[in-house]
Amino acid sequence: MRIIVLGAAAGGGFPQWNSVCPVGERAWRADPAARWRTQCSLAISADGENWALLNASPDLRQQILATPALHPKARPRHSPIRAVVLTNGDVDHVAGLLSLRESQPFALFATGAILDVLARNPIFDVLNPSYVTRHRLALEQPAEILPGLRVIPFAVPGKVALYLEGESLDVGAETEDTIGLELRGAGGRVCFVPGCAKVTAGLAERLNGADLLFFDGTLWTDDEMIRTGTGLKTGARMGHISVSGPEGSLAALRQVSLGRRVFLHVNNTNPILLEDSPERAAVRAAGWEVAYDGMEIEL
Ligand code: MLT
Ligand code: MN
Repeated sequence: MRIIVLGAAAGGGFPQWNSVCPVGERAWRADPAARWRTQCSLAISADGENWALLNASPDLRQQILATPALHPKARPRHSPIRAVVLTNGDVDHVAGLLSLRESQPFALFATGAILDVLARNPIFDVLNPSYVTRHRLALEQPAEILPGLRVIPFAVPGKVALYLEGESLDVGAETEDTIGLELRGAGGRVCFVPGCAKVTAGLAERLNGADLLFFDGTLWTDDEMIRTGTGLKTGARMGHISVSGPEGSLAALRQVSLGRRVFLHVNNTNPILLEDSPERAAVRAAGWEVAYDGMEIEL
């Protein structure tokens, strides 16, 4: 299996167009220790020829240009991208579908809840059904997304997309609205969880023994956006567990056995983005890596 991180940042990217928080400020200054990152997406392949995207970020065109494995290889039209799998309906995970609208065949996989969201938004009808087939993922049911690559979708504590939030919001619900993906191929087992409100005992058990985990690294502390004046919400309210603290992901996943553990979907306020920060040193000491655009892993 080959995995390429197309984008490692959370919604907005790093730096974010309208944000000059202390961490983002260093990125705007082009500080080499504050490497720019696009919005969260992975490419994965079992054979190096056929690729699946895990989420389609608004930066997808730029990500394809930066990734030779995803360039077209034959005249007049071709793309190695044969499948796209979505983990929720968030803008940073679905807007890139609009960049794949050039009558190119691929298979789109999502839960029934997310397929409904797409069906209710007519702009996604630019994906011509003669070319783009939509496949419903059922929780816990394996699906073959590419030759030699199976995905098992599982619910993780989360919520509906921001633009679908109503009066009564259930943050932490384990439904089809936010899922994680377990990918199985010849090289092993990879888990992809870019958004997660809480590490439950069931989730820890599911992740245990994976060769590689990509996990929600949105915020270092729960009140980080409020403290930096960049937002009004806590991480808990946004459906994102923090990295630090007694309830955080570092603590919650410490006992889980993993080949490699990598934070991604990192928000532009999170100091783990800075290579010389004490927070980066702390995650490194706990055995974690921080994903960056172009990071490639072979299993
Ligand atoms: C999230 O990860 O919480 C979302 O991407 C937020 C958003 O849609 O801006
Ligand atoms: Mn997001």
